[in-house]
Amino acid sequence: MINFDINKFLESCGGLAVAPSILAADFSNLGAEIEATESAGADMIHLDIMDGHFVPNISFGPPVVRSIVDKTNLPMDAHLMISDPFEYGKIFADMDIEIITAHIEVIGRIDQWQKFRCEMNTSVGLAINPETEIEDYERIIENFDLILIMSVHPGFAGQKFIPSVLPKIENFANTCEKIGVKRIISVDGGINLETAKLVIDAGANMLVMGKAFYGGKNYEEIIRKIREVKI
Ligand code: DX5
Ligand code: ZN
Repeated sequence: MINFDINKFLESCGGLAVAPSILAADFSNLGAEIEATESAGADMIHLDIMDGHFVPNISFGPPVVRSIVDKTNLPMDAHLMISDPFEYGKIFADMDIEIITAHIEVIGRIDQWQKFRCEMNTSVGLAINPETEIEDYERIIENFDLILIMSVHPGFAGQKFIPSVLPKIENFANTCEKIGVKRIISVDGGINLETAKLVIDAGANMLVMGKAFYGGKNYEEIIRKIREVKI
């Protein structure tokens, strides 16, 4: 088990973490891509794990993650877009992946959230699809270290940002303020320089970026420009 300190992490990246999603990286050159991501100043590596069942796409799984985990000092979050996060989540947790995130649409009940938390024995996140309504923000904040607000329908990189998720980001950020806790409020899907401003203004403190990061030539420049949005 790895002891990942959310507060220290957020402090170390100045209140805004950039998490490139390697789904959009050059898989034929993955080790070098990871190294370039770290040298460019990214804060976290986002791993999009898809099973072709919960989402209509298959990406990569444990063997690939195992091959890159030692290629970087950056923490990683595994976004499990899979129907059985209990079975496969543990495999990633055993590899010392810092945060394991499952979808609320899969682990819908609170007792299941708690089971997930206990079984992963590491920091845990909850991902929420664009159309999924949230009834009790406080309860989610209390039970998870990271909230992954999907701003596209999961399955593919390079989709268009869905602005109707902005109030959800605001509600999570306000709830953290209200109850006086720090959580990672991460937004995933269609993030670029324009949409970054919208989600940062709504209260996000982590941005997952696929195409806007790996589709550009200069990784350092994109990180610098994203940080300027925050200022
Ligand atoms: C979508 C994935 C995202 C995706 C982000 O299913 O969860 O992490 O790779 O890619 P962009 O930033 O290109 O939308
Ligand atoms: Zn993702």
